Amino acid sequence: MKITKHVKWSIWFVLGVGVVVTLLLLKPGVSPLNNSREFSRQAPALSAVELTDRSGLPLRDLAQRQGIRIGAAVRADFYTDDADYRSLLAQEFNSLTPENAMKFARLHPEPGTYHFSDADDLVNFASDHQMQVHGHVLVWHRNLPDWLTEEDWSRQALEQILKQHIFTVMGRYRGQIAAWDVVNEAVERRGQLRKSIWSETIGPDYIELAFRWAHEADPDAQLFYNDYRGEGLGRKSDAIYALVQDLVQRDVPISGVGLQMHTSIQDAPKPEKVAANIRRLNDLGLSVRITEMDVQIYGDERPEAERLQAQAAVYRDTMAVCLAATDCTGLTTWGISDRHSWIPSFFDRPDAPLLFDEAYQPKPAYYALIEALDP
Ligand code: XIL
Repeated sequence: MKITKHVKWSIWFVLGVGVVVTLLLLKPGVSPLNNSREFSRQAPALSAVELTDRSGLPLRDLAQRQGIRIGAAVRADFYTDDADYRSLLAQEFNSLTPENAMKFARLHPEPGTYHFSDADDLVNFASDHQMQVHGHVLVWHRNLPDWLTEEDWSRQALEQILKQHIFTVMGRYRGQIAAWDVVNEAVERRGQLRKSIWSETIGPDYIELAFRWAHEADPDAQLFYNDYRGEGLGRKSDAIYALVQDLVQRDVPISGVGLQMHTSIQDAPKPEKVAANIRRLNDLGLSVRITEMDVQIYGDERPEAERLQAQAAVYRDTMAVCLAATDCTGLTTWGISDRHSWIPSFFDRPDAPLLFDEAYQPKPAYYALIEALDP
């Protein structure tokens, strides 16, 4: 009789503790997955994104064997809100480019005021998961704060602002960011120098100054010129080639050229032309990196399965070209899954340009990269 009573009380006690623990776990903010800093200290755990029919190693392991980096652009908002996003990132990629968190207006929204917390989170995550960080971006004509664009600066004043910005940002991450996009998209479609606050107020040598200041700020960082639609051969890539050749000849500290590779299944550059372009840049002593790849499938008449195969071929060819080059250090995709691509909102139309679908499942493009890395 006594024993039965004891057992009854024990059961009630265990049930009570169970209810309290469950309520605590359900409370927002208590689960470790709701806290990005906390999560970044833990090994990535796969939950809903378990990759089912993959036979072998993840992309990052195969890339490492080949001596190159496979990267993804990462958005701080998705990163903070979505544990599956972080898991997939840590599992498949060994390089991380902050998609927006290091842009001028984000980092430096008021004169002398810097907001580093999102960028810090991404840099810490990368270091916790043995990933390299590709810094993006120091000098660009977009994403500039109003305080900068609305004032009529003298050349000297704007130089001072830019120099200070580069020193502050690169100085903060010195030793933690392996490579930086120093200047982004300075060349127009037909090859002329783009008009921007930088080129108009400082003059064309803002490019050279930016590289020199960047080298002073972190002498060990690799410094890239980065641009789009200059991947193959043509007027724009010729102009980029001439620009960086001039920098090299005058001993300006530039390490490489980033080929963004925002492309589509209809107008992807021919692999031979990309190979030839990379070759001539390598011959100047410059590294090359595919920095922002995505492949749009919108606006093509074929059934979706065929379009996804065509997309896979573009990824495969690009990786093959990079692997065959003397000095192509990596391939970064501009996002992780189709749920996060910038393309639909930027161009206002549906698309599916990345390696993973909206449910984070690998697409033919993913397997194409696996095959290219592990033939
Ligand atoms: C894009 C981001 O992906 C978007 O989220 C943002 O709204 C606009 O910028 N070239 C670049 C990138 O160098 O910084 C751009 O990123 C895409 C084009």
